[in-house]
Amino acid sequence: MFKKDFPIFSNNPWMVFLDNAASTQKPKYVIDGVSEFVSTSYANIHRGMYTLSEKSEEAYHHSKELVGELLNCKASEIIYSYNSTYGINLIAQSLVISDVINKWDTVLLGIREHHANILPRQVLAERKGFNIEFFNITDDYEIDRNDFDQKYTDKVKVVSVGHVSNVTGKIYDVKKIKSKLRDDTFFLIDGSQSVPNFTVDVQDIGCDCLVFTGHKMMAYTWIWVVYLKKERIRKLVPMIRWWWTIEDVSVEGHSLMTNADKFEAGTPNIIWAVSLGKALEYIKSIGWMKKIWEHEQSLVVYFINKLREKGRGTSDKDSPIEIIWPLTTEDRVAVFSFVLNNNTNFQNVGEKFAEHNVAVRCGGHCAYPLHKHFKKPWTCRMSGYIYNDESDIKSFFTVLEGIIK
Ligand SMILES: Cc1ncc(COP(=O)(O)O)c(C=O)c1O
Repeated sequence: MFKKDFPIFSNNPWMVFLDNAASTQKPKYVIDGVSEFVSTSYANIHRGMYTLSEKSEEAYHHSKELVGELLNCKASEIIYSYNSTYGINLIAQSLVISDVINKWDTVLLGIREHHANILPRQVLAERKGFNIEFFNITDDYEIDRNDFDQKYTDKVKVVSVGHVSNVTGKIYDVKKIKSKLRDDTFFLIDGSQSVPNFTVDVQDIGCDCLVFTGHKMMAYTWIWVVYLKKERIRKLVPMIRWWWTIEDVSVEGHSLMTNADKFEAGTPNIIWAVSLGKALEYIKSIGWMKKIWEHEQSLVVYFINKLREKGRGTSDKDSPIEIIWPLTTEDRVAVFSFVLNNNTNFQNVGEKFAEHNVAVRCGGHCAYPLHKHFKKPWTCRMSGYIYNDESDIKSFFTVLEGIIK
């Protein structure tokens, strides 16, 4: 139904695109909208007093206003960065230089985190002498509450968790995690796999910070969003400083801006920010996040019914395919990872899908600790989005059955 809005599909009519957890395709509305902005309204923003600069600034802020509406926060609590490496590093470094996390303190993460949420902490922990602990998940993929309670000691100053696993598609109850935390624990959510798929309300969750990336929800690459609660913006200081981050500079030193601008050093990614605004306008026009969620849920149900129909994905040891997630339609997005039990390696599986024009992703999905926990070196992942339909899932199964045979 929505495929017609995406030129990539008319230009590649044979392609079945099921790699949306990695990145999504762009609707014509976004492509044309960005092109129009660049053709008619682009200039550098902030201190320009001429019309083009003002138009450009307006478009940049309009994009932030839409993100505010998306997350139920103020536009002034939104910081734009480039990707997870920049965004999570920005906050991770800021927590260290703002003394939220000090030597001997602990950062608590989940074993299922994406590397983007692990590596920035490891680099800083090595140098600054704080610890990192990982809480486990149970055999049915829930948070291991006992393990969490044991590891959430007085030393924990930061808890940083993924909202949805990019491997299993499982949605985690972040509100419940929040209810267990002391008020002074900095609570960061990696919303990379949740914000593109369903309504995420930062007020309702009560988190201090939430990050997500625009390219996974139909915007262009290199637009990464950091929501930072107003009180935290006031207290945290940024590591990277230049131009719009400062109020005054002298040979003795400099003073920082007091609002979220202090985290946006240098010329921001204006064009890609506009692309995110356009993507959000498109999503609004089709029925907002509710529509995406409903559509994805129909894909989830169809996928699971198909698996059952084919007698695949049971916990039976002799089953040729093992799905890394119990076969339930609840608390999940349309992301399914599996391994084949016939020793086929992941490159062969990925290539077989590619030969039949089905785009899936095989490997460790930047979640090696989770794969190690499952004792699986790799998985193959299919992930659906708003433009996928039943025929895409049928094509997926045709290839899968061929590989199994
Ligand atoms: C849960 C999660 N966090 C972070 C990222 C990294 O996002 P980006 O590739 O935009 O830096 C991803 C991307 O796959 C992800 O799935």
